[in-house]
Amino acid sequence: MKAITIGLSVLILAALGCKPKQETASSLNEMIWGHEGDRIINLYTLTNKNGMEVKITNFGGIITSVKVPDKTGAMENVVLGFDSLKSYQSGHPYFGSLVGRYGNRIAKGKFVLNDTTYTLAVNNGENHLHGGLKGFDKQVFSVDTAYSSRDSVVLVLSYLSADMEEGYPGNLLVKVRYVVTGNNEIKIWYEAETDKATVLNLTNHSYFNLTGCKENILNHELVLMADSITPADTTLIPTGVLAPVAGTSFDFTSAHKIGERIGEVPGGYDINFKLRNKPGQLVQAAEVYEPVSGRLLQAYTTEPGVQFYTGNFLDGTLTGFNGVSYAQHFGFCLEAQHFPDSPNKPQFPTVVLNPGEKYRQLTVYRFSTR
Ligand code: GLA
Repeated sequence: MKAITIGLSVLILAALGCKPKQETASSLNEMIWGHEGDRIINLYTLTNKNGMEVKITNFGGIITSVKVPDKTGAMENVVLGFDSLKSYQSGHPYFGSLVGRYGNRIAKGKFVLNDTTYTLAVNNGENHLHGGLKGFDKQVFSVDTAYSSRDSVVLVLSYLSADMEEGYPGNLLVKVRYVVTGNNEIKIWYEAETDKATVLNLTNHSYFNLTGCKENILNHELVLMADSITPADTTLIPTGVLAPVAGTSFDFTSAHKIGERIGEVPGGYDINFKLRNKPGQLVQAAEVYEPVSGRLLQAYTTEPGVQFYTGNFLDGTLTGFNGVSYAQHFGFCLEAQHFPDSPNKPQFPTVVLNPGEKYRQLTVYRFSTR
């Protein structure tokens, strides 16, 4: 009887020209994916009531796959990644990873905090990048909570970074709450506490490709809610000033194809944009539309900046899902963050975390179609 009722309502909706909305219960699945040393690594599949499916592992807190519908309802994966843990363990440019302790670069791997000079690993030319030799992207997170409710699916990961790990002071406890909502969003809540003054800049390094990872991202249309960038030197360390985007190839205040002016930017885009929010205020940072699939990605964050990176260093040597090789500009990143090299730039918003304070960040990636 129930099946007949559903069938009838589908017919009526079809006759009225409406597409029936398929809703099922959200779910969370856990499977053992492999090992890192003596630690078990799991892969979690978070599926919401619309069938949006996000896979996350506690190795590096990596988002390995995000399946969302196109305008016809076809579900495809829209992030770069691999289907085996070994591929992540063999090295990759931060695909989907949680990045810490410091997302992006610190000049020459040095900073001074409360009159002490700290020396970090130098792993990007003469600079420190994305937390050093063994950043959070390569660490094993503990799983605090994993559950699905009517409207959302939740995975809470935590990691205790020991005092002086990669050269950073303080025992730092980080918690990251991934939530897949019934509104086809991935919400990432970050929290951290330290027992000594330190610097911190957490982000997620997903590479998106809204075509379903079928071709490069140059035809995606981008809007960035940002009026200025932090121009950088040849080693990608900010000079310390803000430069207006108006009249430059960095002006995405109205929609432009990513590829339209990329030829004017040596190597492609890899720069921090200053957003328009007050400290801690959640604002929209970006909107990206892919005209063939009709997929739309809207990004929101409480962070003051976003690193827009167009996969400039991808060179086709890595092969991801479905045997696709990841060539230059095959994915784009919107890394919500504080500005690069803030520990050495007192004029930038502070990245210092003191004992007794709580670091908080929220970043949201919302998927829909148009
Ligand atoms: C960030 C950096 C880039 C590059 C990538 C990872 O986006 O700004 O320069 O290091 O991460 O390859």
